[in-house]
Amino acid sequence: MAQHNDVKFLSFLLLVVVIANVGVVTPKSTIEPCSNSDSCNALLGYTLYTDLKVSEVGSLFNVDPVSILTANAIDISYPDVENHILPSQLFLRIPVTCACIDGIRKSVSTHYKTRPSDTLASIAGQVYSGLVSADQLREANGIQDPDVLDVGVNLLVPLPCTCFNGTDNSLPAVYLSYVVKDIDTLAGIAARYRTTLTDLMNVNAMGSTAIQAGDILAVPLPACASNFPSYAKDNGLIVPNGSYAITASHCVQCSCGPGNLNLYCMPASLAVSCSSMQCKNSNLMLGNYTMQQSSAGCNVTTCSYGGFVNGTITTTLSTSLQPRCPGPQQFPPLIAPPSTVNKDSIFAPASAPAPHMDGAVTTPKSSVVPSTGSLPSLSPAGGPSGSVSAASSTNSLTTFSSALILYLFVKFMMSISL
Ligand SMILES: *[C@@H]1O[C@H](CO)[C@@H](O)[C@H](O)[C@H]1NC(C)=O
Ligand SMILES: *[C@@H]1O[C@H](CO)[C@@H](O)[C@H](O)[C@H]1NC(C)=O
Ligand SMILES: *[C@@H]1O[C@H](CO)[C@@H](O)[C@H](O)[C@H]1NC(C)=O
Ligand SMILES: *[C@@H]1O[C@H](CO)[C@@H](O)[C@H](O)[C@H]1NC(C)=O
Ligand SMILES: *[C@@H]1O[C@H](CO)[C@@H](O)[C@H](O)[C@H]1NC(C)=O
Repeated sequence: MAQHNDVKFLSFLLLVVVIANVGVVTPKSTIEPCSNSDSCNALLGYTLYTDLKVSEVGSLFNVDPVSILTANAIDISYPDVENHILPSQLFLRIPVTCACIDGIRKSVSTHYKTRPSDTLASIAGQVYSGLVSADQLREANGIQDPDVLDVGVNLLVPLPCTCFNGTDNSLPAVYLSYVVKDIDTLAGIAARYRTTLTDLMNVNAMGSTAIQAGDILAVPLPACASNFPSYAKDNGLIVPNGSYAITASHCVQCSCGPGNLNLYCMPASLAVSCSSMQCKNSNLMLGNYTMQQSSAGCNVTTCSYGGFVNGTITTTLSTSLQPRCPGPQQFPPLIAPPSTVNKDSIFAPASAPAPHMDGAVTTPKSSVVPSTGSLPSLSPAGGPSGSVSAASSTNSLTTFSSALILYLFVKFMMSISL
């Protein structure tokens, strides 16, 4: 009788184990099909796994370090800013070129040189903070045996990105690939990025608000679009509200917001030699405008940036009659290069108004981390990734199974002794 019950109990537990095993879902990622070969601009949400110099983050992603700074509204006039050390667990937006490979949008310009003690799981989960999985690394590089990883191998790191034609609900938008953390809720993410649950669900084709750590969501950010001609090198430049972009070989800097979503470009403050930035037949420089109030309205003449063509900065002089004269150009607030990650924000509920990256954070001590960060003690450094969470599930299952076997053994011994 007792043994019969044990058999029933055993099958029940085995069932639980089987269900739990099936329940180890691989993280979801939003995929955008594409047909043409043109690329577009996108952002990656990246959490630093260790302290890194700005230039090191740049080489990790094969991205211009200055463009990382401007994408995060970090002041580039800070002395020796490229050697500034950014703190572990800082959340950054990394601007990337999003290509169309085998009918799917992805970023393929990132390569990683393997170091001693690297594993595919550590490269994926820690170094690239879950933006790629160990399986994707293995596939992209045709690795037969993932347990044997030579040192100094140049791995292609395919990274997720989406563009959706640079629009969201017909308005200009740039998409951030965001790796969901343990403490995230969809409502919290929507609030942090000032979008709606419905919009996030539509963009990511979700049937429910359920998300799990390691999922990669496409988060639309309102942006200022450029309309440079297709032959311009920086064609398709798009700048999210509250940030900057650097273009034309570091000669031109463009900003977006906060007052309106018209792209505004002006000479950059970096010490580089640049071609003329003066509009033809005018004494106006790039970004300059003159206004003349008349009975008909305000006659605004603007010298604006028209794209980087053949190594030349093109300018356009245009005149428009506007109902009212515009006020002075507003700029998104710049922050000092961060040196600390605000611990308070780490424990704040994800839906609380976060110290948004683009917010009026101007003091050097302030954090630029939206309240999404995770402490290394709360989750594995670099955040959970598919393989990491799968591995930890396996560990707990192993523990569970051992406990089960021990329990049954004890029960069995007891029933024998009775
Ligand atoms: C993409 O956006 C442009 C405007 O930016 C629009 O004219 C075009 O129809 C859109 N294409 C698709 C496929 O949505
Ligand atoms: C742009 O950002 C500013 C603050 O950074 C905000 O007040 C404004 O509403 C934003 N505009 C859009 C269209 O999201
Ligand atoms: C024109 O732009 C240059 C560079 O941004 C600036 O130094 C200058 O003050 C501007 N001139 C006028 C008249 O706005
Ligand atoms: C607006 O200003 C430009 C340049 O100053 C001038 O050529 C043009 O005639 C003006 N237009 C109106 C409607 O006043
Ligand atoms: C760029 O330069 C090449 C040769 O220098 C010329 O053939 C081409 O027309 C130029 N393109 C544009 C858009 O000016």
